[in-house]
Amino acid sequence: MRPISWLRLPARRHLNRLLALAALLTGAGAGLALLSSCATVDRTAAAPPYIEGATFVGNAACADCHTNLTRLFDSSPHGRYHRADVRLAGLTGCESCHGPGSKHVAAAGAREFIVNPGRDPAACLACHLATHAEFRLPHRHPVLEGRMNCVDCHDPHGPDLMKPAGGLALARLNEACATCHREQARPFVFEHEALREGCTECHQPHGSIAPQLLTQRDANLCLKCHAQVQQPGAVMIGKTDHASLLRLGACWSAGCHTAVHGSNIHPKMLY
Ligand code: HEC
Ligand code: HEC
Ligand code: HEC
Ligand code: HEC
Ligand code: HEC
Ligand code: HEC
Ligand code: HEC
Repeated sequence: MRPISWLRLPARRHLNRLLALAALLTGAGAGLALLSSCATVDRTAAAPPYIEGATFVGNAACADCHTNLTRLFDSSPHGRYHRADVRLAGLTGCESCHGPGSKHVAAAGAREFIVNPGRDPAACLACHLATHAEFRLPHRHPVLEGRMNCVDCHDPHGPDLMKPAGGLALARLNEACATCHREQARPFVFEHEALREGCTECHQPHGSIAPQLLTQRDANLCLKCHAQVQQPGAVMIGKTDHASLLRLGACWSAGCHTAVHGSNIHPKMLY
């Protein structure tokens, strides 16, 4: 098996280009030459998990015993860029996350010969370098610390990567967060409509430079939805002049809207 360089996985806006490249990569050996001449894409060497003495056997070999998962995998975004009929198949299919499967197959499914990234996310991070960097930011979900895992929020095999593995088929994004953060996601008498847009309107799911995983550390977090209207001598947000209030600190920490997720006692989001 020849060594292969994986692309550095960049932010979402680059994914389409990346996908095109991935198609090239799996489409033909010539794709490799093309890739190496593409100076705009940052590359890095990342390999699938290593398993002593094992070789790649391809998805078809897994189907015998893991029929449902193998069938499901075609509908997953990871599965869509996998092509079974090419030489690099082992590196884009099941074994890109689970490592080469020959010994696992030969030993009728012995667990010691296969990697489970549900316990160790190294396989995911080898491709998703940008995500890896996010989990090193000062405020983060403790994934690298081993206290939780990618699959608490992502389904690696199914059609919807944004639902937790083994979760309800209809689970929405907020519900993925709610399994651990019930307090913020529960119903309130005075709900904050912002939560209908999803927790990620205000929080980075992986990590952030701002405390509490916030997307912004100051009033701008709220002002992206609540426009300030400048008037002579006043800054109106809603029907209230906020000119002096905005100087007191962030909307939630200055004592004004302390119940940002919703309140049972006050319509203006106060405890
Ligand atoms: C001969 C049947 C067989 C084949 C073929 C097979 N497996 Fe398995 N696999 C099993 C069995 C049985 C288990 C459960 C082992 C246990 O629970 O002790 C298992 C467990 C696993 C696990 C979970 C391991 C863990 O530690 O939780 C993974 C991942 C896995 N297989 C991946 C694969 C992949 C990828 C392939 C194809 C390369 C594959 N299997 C091919 C029988 C098979
Ligand atoms: C994108 C990475 C990735 C790919 C590709 C992938 N898996 Fe998995 N697989 C995982 C993760 C992560 C887990 C752990 C899931 C959990 O803990 O809920 C897992 C768990 C498993 C298990 C253990 C049983 C279970 O449901 O937890 C089996 C068996 C398995 N995978 C087989 C496969 C087969 C067969 C394929 C190819 C058709 C495949 N996987 C492709 C990441 C992947
Ligand atoms: C072999 C490289 C590779 C590995 C290993 C890998 N991924 Fe991916 N992943 C990709 C590529 C390429 C895409 C883009 C596919 C697409 O968007 O259709 C992607 C897409 C994703 C997305 C969706 C991105 C979006 O914007 O929709 C998530 C979430 C994701 N991967 C999580 C994981 C997790 C969790 C694991 C480990 C269990 C993992 N990946 C392992 C290559 C990989
Ligand atoms: C706390 C839940 C959570 C955990 C844990 C988590 N993710 Fe995510 N991830 C998300 C959410 C939510 C999004 C969608 C972000 C958006 O659309 O704004 C996302 C998006 C992504 C994307 C798409 C690119 C991006 O950043 O928007 C990739 C790739 C990804 N996650 C990979 C991973 C990998 C790999 C792991 C484990 C190392 C992981 N995630 C752990 C919740 C999580
Ligand atoms: C599997 C459980 C789990 C899931 C799912 C989960 N989290 Fe967390 N969350 C944690 C843990 C553990 C911490 C770290 C708490 C600590 O360090 O004391 C945390 C911390 C946080 C914090 C920072 C809290 C603070 O006081 O600094 C925020 C905000 C947060 N999560 C939001 C989210 C959002 C948004 C989602 C959905 C995208 C989500 N979480 C999904 C377990 C989870
Ligand atoms: C409108 C923006 C916004 C939305 C949407 C939002 N949060 Fe928050 N969240 C905040 C702010 C601001 C803080 C900091 C509150 C503080 O310091 O008192 C926070 C704090 C947290 C904390 C830390 C503990 C706490 O309550 O102070 C957790 C956990 C949390 N949010 C989870 C979630 C979850 C889960 C969702 C989705 C159900 C969500 N958030 C949606 C703005 C938001
Ligand atoms: C994703 C958009 C969004 C974000 C971000 C957001 N909000 Fe809201 N907020 C709304 C919507 C929609 C309403 C209901 C309509 C309205 O009253 O403007 C609302 C209502 C409110 C209300 C009640 C207003 C009233 O007169 O009854 C307060 C107070 C509030 N938000 C404070 C905040 C604070 C503080 C933040 C920042 C932590 C914030 N919002 C961030 C969308 C958002």
